[in-house]
Amino acid sequence: MANTVVVGAQWGDEAKGKVVDFLGRNADVIVRYNGGNNAGHTVVVDGQTFKFHLVPCGMLWPQTLNIIGDGEVIDPPVLAKELDTLAGYGISSDRLKISLNAHIIMPYHQTFDRLEEERKGEKAIGTTSRGIGPAYADKASRVGIRVADFIDPVRLRTRIAENLAFKNEVLTKVYGAPAFDEQAMFDEYSAYADKIRPLAANTNLITHQAYKQGKEILFEGAQGTLLDLDYGTYPFVTSSHPIAGGACLGTGVGPKQLDRIIGIAKAYTTRVGAGVFPTELLDATGDFIREAGHEYGTTTGRARRCGWLDAVVLRYSAMVNGLTDFAVTLLDVLTGLETVKVCRAYMCDGVETETLPADWEAVKQCVPIYDELPGWSEDITGVRKYEDFPANVKAYVSHIEKLTGVEVKILSVGPDRMATIVRE
Ligand code: IMP
Repeated sequence: MANTVVVGAQWGDEAKGKVVDFLGRNADVIVRYNGGNNAGHTVVVDGQTFKFHLVPCGMLWPQTLNIIGDGEVIDPPVLAKELDTLAGYGISSDRLKISLNAHIIMPYHQTFDRLEEERKGEKAIGTTSRGIGPAYADKASRVGIRVADFIDPVRLRTRIAENLAFKNEVLTKVYGAPAFDEQAMFDEYSAYADKIRPLAANTNLITHQAYKQGKEILFEGAQGTLLDLDYGTYPFVTSSHPIAGGACLGTGVGPKQLDRIIGIAKAYTTRVGAGVFPTELLDATGDFIREAGHEYGTTTGRARRCGWLDAVVLRYSAMVNGLTDFAVTLLDVLTGLETVKVCRAYMCDGVETETLPADWEAVKQCVPIYDELPGWSEDITGVRKYEDFPANVKAYVSHIEKLTGVEVKILSVGPDRMATIVRE
């Protein structure tokens, strides 16, 4: 039995949803451990597209129990809509549990997210404006509203009153924005609490019991390593812990209970929002990748910044996550390029380095050093066995392994569940 963590190895959008769904066939329990509806996970099965923002992608497998873990932040209207959408697909929420410890995103979190981005102007982070940062900030400041508070009407009313007493002052006096109405917020959010209450549970215990019974648990991360609050390109990061360690923080399992840590990496690199991106391509090749890979945000529709694969980033990711293997996705997007490049090292201040400088400001001064490999023109979307890949694709994959020291065990050549190759 392998308890597996699916972690983004780059800046998010690595097609983790697809890999979680693919691995979900063997899972008993699937727990999402971080983030909120800043994430958009897409799964395609037999031509039908399913989009998830809060609920684990494992919901599509009928044998699975799915958990919104302690580390997530939940926007109640978004969750209510997602449950309705699932019901529309004929998927019952009976197989979904929500941690009593998860925090709730309230309307003032979204307002503060937007106002802060506006205030920062050119220095804005480029957040998804879903209230993620302010919700996690309230959690750290110990004024957040947890699911346990949310589903108790007396506690909910008290928490809203306590929060608005201060936040309305800041909104009106610092930002010159309108205040929130306490009664209206309570009435609206009480209705959402009624929907969440039946699903709220002690999910740490459920996960622990599943572990004791030898059940297979899949830990689903959102965003990516380089967006981690502690290990990402701070301050251009999200406010949660996408790294593998976040699976422990966000679900209540111990580190020794994790067996396999799969880093999901695109065959190239993308990033949404501001911040350092050494291998970014601001040219026709970047545009080619964006169009071929449909690199527009699932959540916000924003065009993603695109660039070559960065082995320095992947090495770093392997290090901070303790990766056991890689899944390389969107390999088909590179089809048609005469040559493909991989950044093997950076030149920083005249010194060649294979590791990421600890100071992100220093990374801005670094220039990528590339290895150039021959591309391929064959359509690889129908490949289902590793042996059937063109030689140049295999050479590209081997090169990633050589540069990172981590094996590539899964490859993806299209959005559909079946367009996945597992290397034995
Ligand atoms: P926030 O998570 O909305 O606060 O945004 C912080 C940074 O993380 C911004 O640069 C976002 O574009 C980025 N980000 C957040 N969620 C995702 C995601 O799911 N995929 C890619 N980037 C994300």
